[in-house]
Amino acid sequence: MLQKVVRSTIIDAPIERVWAVLRDFNSHDQWHAVVEASRIEAGRRSDEVGCVRSFTLKDGNRIREQLLTLSDTEHRSTYCIVEATVPLLRYVATVTLKPVTDGNRTFWHWESSFATPPGRERELREMVARDVYEAGFENLRRHLAGGTRSAALAPAASGVPIATREVRVQRYGGAEQLEPAAGEARAPGPGEVRIRQRAIGVNFIDVYLRRGWIPAMLPLPGVPGMEAAGSVIDVGPGVAGLLPGDRVACLWHQPGAYTSVRTVPADTLVRLPAAVEDVTAAALLLKGVTADYLLRDLGRIGPGTRLLVHAAAGGVGLLLCAWASRLGATVLGTVSSEEKARVARAHGCAHPIVTREARFAEVVQRLAGGADVIVDGIGDAAREENLAALAPRGHWISLGQASGPLAPIDPDALLAKSASFSRPVVFHYVATAAELQERAARVWAALADGSLALPPIERFTLDAAAQAHARLESRGSVGPLVLLAG
Ligand SMILES: NC(=O)c1ccc[n+]([C@@H]2O[C@H](COP(=O)([O-])OP(=O)(O)OC[C@H]3O[C@@H](n4cnc5c(N)ncnc54)[C@H](OP(=O)(O)O)[C@@H]3O)[C@@H](O)[C@H]2O)c1
Repeated sequence: MLQKVVRSTIIDAPIERVWAVLRDFNSHDQWHAVVEASRIEAGRRSDEVGCVRSFTLKDGNRIREQLLTLSDTEHRSTYCIVEATVPLLRYVATVTLKPVTDGNRTFWHWESSFATPPGRERELREMVARDVYEAGFENLRRHLAGGTRSAALAPAASGVPIATREVRVQRYGGAEQLEPAAGEARAPGPGEVRIRQRAIGVNFIDVYLRRGWIPAMLPLPGVPGMEAAGSVIDVGPGVAGLLPGDRVACLWHQPGAYTSVRTVPADTLVRLPAAVEDVTAAALLLKGVTADYLLRDLGRIGPGTRLLVHAAAGGVGLLLCAWASRLGATVLGTVSSEEKARVARAHGCAHPIVTREARFAEVVQRLAGGADVIVDGIGDAAREENLAALAPRGHWISLGQASGPLAPIDPDALLAKSASFSRPVVFHYVATAAELQERAARVWAALADGSLALPPIERFTLDAAAQAHARLESRGSVGPLVLLAG
């Protein structure tokens, strides 16, 4: 007769953190005290269905078990014994996790069925229930509470590449050059962290890279993308303060974010507050810290500043409108449609100017007597009008070139108004980990206190990255765009 053992418990950790350990079929010698040493046979990955783990127990017994199913969406795995010196016959076990409603704890259900030699039913049932399952619950609790110790052990537990879904540029060109492909995320080395990315931010710089405008930054074939949000899978040696399961967002000057799993330097990561969802973080991190440096540092926006924002209903644009109006600025903005004007106005743009051909200088002069600061992501199409729209001593911040690269500016063109010109790049404003943390913290705080209104976010699957790019280039999108990696 088949014996059945069922045990369950609550673990005081979020489901992602518990699952990050349990989904790794070879992690048990890192956290379960009865397991002496374990290895995956035949060089397979430890999360690959069909892989076999071969391990010895502290009492000298040897067991080989095979992973039968693994579901990241259901947080469930099933495995069976294929060979053992312990007489557990036809042993099949299932581990299932469920989030407890408060979101910070995890329900763990572990059950199995097996046959035994006659007369040993009770002894072996108790051994599985007590020494394997109940002890396992306690051991995992201790492992998760182990802080840097468990973090230091994590690389050994999962030091193999993880299969990824990614989107590559094979040839520079149009949006159709973005092609989904299978890839790998290597185990984290010293100072690195491997993250499972659920949401990936789309930025106009991804379009420049795809078009081949900055080839040194994206050699071919290359994976674009500068930012994403998700959770830590494992960390490399020397990484302090991050553990498997921690929710993080990454902002890095090296492209490569269009992927489901990525290995990145720890100092490109910020922890996410519970209130900031992955999609929000991916939509807002790069654009939010850009708004932060533009308004605080470069533009020095304050009460009464006349700020002109181009593409005011765009990803960066809506954040600038909302935050600048909270700082007391008078915000004017260009948009290409009445619908965009409505959204920009709702986000603090007092004077949306509807123009598709970048004709705005006359309106800006009439409404405000000129702009003290212009934030210009349009580029060449707005070149002459920007000069005409500036107020005396005005500051033209050339942020980007959605309409095409900006031709050189004659210094004498600035002289006429004592104007200044800047050409900043966000990565220089988050060049240190401390500065990235500080700026990101200000973005999340502004979101929490209402200074930054959450913009509408357009969502695409990672595989549909080409559609997301086409949408961004069509001038149809409103607010930021995000790719979902499952
Ligand atoms: N330097 C930095 O630190 C930094 C950081 C972040 C972003 N940026 C730049 O800021 C700008 C905005 O970036 P984003 O990601 O938030 O994009 P976005 O503003 O959401 O999208 C671009 C917008 O530009 C406008 N546009 C005007 N002419 C265009 C044209 N010929 N083709 C396409 N779009 C055109 C469109 O708005 P309308 O149709 O309403 O005109 C479009 O929606 C980009 O230039 C980007 O490179 C720079």
